Order: sequence, then structure tokens, then C-alpha cells
Amino acid sequence: MERTLILVKPDGVQRGLAGEIISRFERRGLQLAGMKFMQMSRQLAEEHYGVHKERPFYSSLVEYITSGPIVAMVWQGNDAIAAARSTMGATNPVQAAPGTIRGDFGMEIGRNLVHGSDSPENAVKEVNLFFNTDELVDWQRTNDAWICE
Ligand code: RTP
Ligand code: MG
Repeated sequence: MERTLILVKPDGVQRGLAGEIISRFERRGLQLAGMKFMQMSRQLAEEHYGVHKERPFYSSLVEYITSGPIVAMVWQGNDAIAAARSTMGATNPVQAAPGTIRGDFGMEIGRNLVHGSDSPENAVKEVNLFFNTDELVDWQRTNDAWICE
């Protein structure tokens, strides 16, 4: 069982797409373990995107991610990280396949609607950055046998 941190970024919330985006992960078969509506502080954004600190797009990325509220979520399941990233689509929405979140709703890399952890190590770090352990719910999904063999 793997966990991944997913964010509906400020453009997703402002455009009224939060429900649609959440629904994509839910229908895929990922299981929700935590969710909060919040606005990221600059400090949290700088920590979350610290790996991109030297990149030319870093300051606009921090501006973007702190510019409005987001929905932060933890989704879990077998191969949750890869499953979530394929549901999201390629980083640049213009290259993202139709049927993916970014391919269906995005036009530019700097407004790509959604974040998903990219590795098991980063997923653990990011989940801990956004959620305390008592904010994550351990629950039995009654239809699991119809999603996982
Ligand atoms: P994310 O971390 O947000 O899930 O996106 P990702 O893994 O698909 O892409 P990553 O390489 O980690 O980049 C993080 C975010 O930075 C913005 N970006 N802008 N202008 C640019 O060239 C550029 N490149 C990346 C995007 O918002 C990307 O999601
Ligand atoms: Mg990334």
C-alpha cells in the first residue's frame, strides 16, 4: 500500500474544478486518507518545491502555488504514486493526453492544476509536510475487493 500527496492547485480551485479533479482520483479507485482546504504559506511552498530552488521558474511557481486556496489530499492504494500521476497527465498540459486532468483542463505548464508526489521518498516527505498523523484516517473501504484482486 502506497500513499501520495495530491494538491488541487489554486487554478483548479479558482476555476471550480476541485470537485471534478477529486472525482478523477476517486473514480480511478484510489482511496482517500486525508483532505484539507488551505492556503499555502510562502514557507511551506518553499519547502515543498525546494528541489526546484535553482530553476528559472521557481519564484513564479512559489507565487502561483501560494496565490489562493488549494485542496491538499492523501490518496492511497497499490502503486498510488504512478496511478495518480497517470491520472494527472504530463507536466505540460499541452503534452498531456486527453482523458488526463491536465490534458482535459490545462493549456500551460505554469497553470497545470494539480500536484502529485513523484517517488516513494518524496511522497513520505510531502505527506508529513502537509498532514499530521492524526489527520489521516485509517478506514476499510467496503468495495475494495472490486478494485484490488
Ligand atoms: P508537480 O510537482 O507540481 O506535481 O509537477 P510535476 O512533478 O509534473 O513537475 P515538476 O518538474 O516537479 O515541476 C513542478 C511544477 O513547476 C512548474 N513548472 N514550470 N515554466 C516551466 O518551465 C515549469 N516547469 C515546471 C509546474 O507547475 C510544475 O507542475
Ligand atoms: Mg514534481
